[in-house]
Amino acid sequence: MTYTIVTGASKGIGKAIAEELAKQGKNLILVARSEDLLKKLAEELAAKKVDVKYLAADLLDEDAPKRIFDWVEIQKLSVDTLINNAGFGHFGKFADKPVENHLQVMHLNMDSMVIMAHQFLTRTDGSRRRYILNTVSTAAFQPVPYMAIYGATKSFMLSFSRALRQEMRSRNVYVTALCPGATESEFSAVAGTSKVEGKYSKYVMTAESVAKEGLQGLWKNKSVVLPGLMNKLTTFAVNLVPQDTAAIAAGRIFKENK
Ligand SMILES: NC(=O)c1ccc[n+]([C@@H]2O[C@H](COP(=O)([O-])OP(=O)(O)OC[C@H]3O[C@@H](n4cnc5c(N)ncnc54)[C@H](OP(=O)(O)O)[C@@H]3O)[C@@H](O)[C@H]2O)c1
Repeated sequence: MTYTIVTGASKGIGKAIAEELAKQGKNLILVARSEDLLKKLAEELAAKKVDVKYLAADLLDEDAPKRIFDWVEIQKLSVDTLINNAGFGHFGKFADKPVENHLQVMHLNMDSMVIMAHQFLTRTDGSRRRYILNTVSTAAFQPVPYMAIYGATKSFMLSFSRALRQEMRSRNVYVTALCPGATESEFSAVAGTSKVEGKYSKYVMTAESVAKEGLQGLWKNKSVVLPGLMNKLTTFAVNLVPQDTAAIAAGRIFKENK
């Protein structure tokens, strides 16, 4: 019996991924800070005849990934898949925000994801196929003025995912970067980007469709998954122009948030 760890499983894209995995018959370990939401989701998903465990953890705490995998060992659970999804961002000019805000975004979106991946690869059974799905973003493909740190963390994760995928190829590990664009979740409320999301609402995808495409890509061993036609088209266009031009365009969109 194997398990999938889903971080950021209490809401949004992570919750939708957990629901889709349960439909696919996968046993789950749900991780996030909101224990009440995890408990509720675990109870709902257990009705789908899968085993669902949950662990409340704040991934901004440096020791959290180690504690999660210590717990997995104590419980004698075999984990073959990591969905590295918990993340957040802040809207605003870099210099106008306290540096602590930026460091928190960097810590959750990069350090905690990297440490989770390292714990997973060093502490799980390497004799069987293993899978890592990193939730990145279309923000990874160009600089994002007014969300400069968020965009940079996502570029880091995209580069890391692509490199790790090559390194782990011979060890039977599939690594996929899921790169959603605007998606229905609590992300924009947390980031303070609800205005701009409202203006482009017809392009906002549901968390369920992002989750479905992400998992399809993971099982097919895709390097990068861009869910939805609009995200594929805009990323294609971004790759055709100089990065500074793409940054100007991204900055114009986010300026509309004010
Ligand atoms: N929505 C979008 O438009 C969009 C687009 C591209 C990429 N993404 C990426 O998708 C991922 C999921 O975001 P979402 O859109 O689903 O946003 P969301 O609805 O705000 O969900 C974020 C999840 O991360 C968890 N989380 C936040 N801080 C945490 C911490 N310190 N420790 C542990 N868990 C934490 C939250 O749970 P608790 O609050 O219970 O801890 C929640 O489950 C993120 O990596 C985000 O960057 C989102």
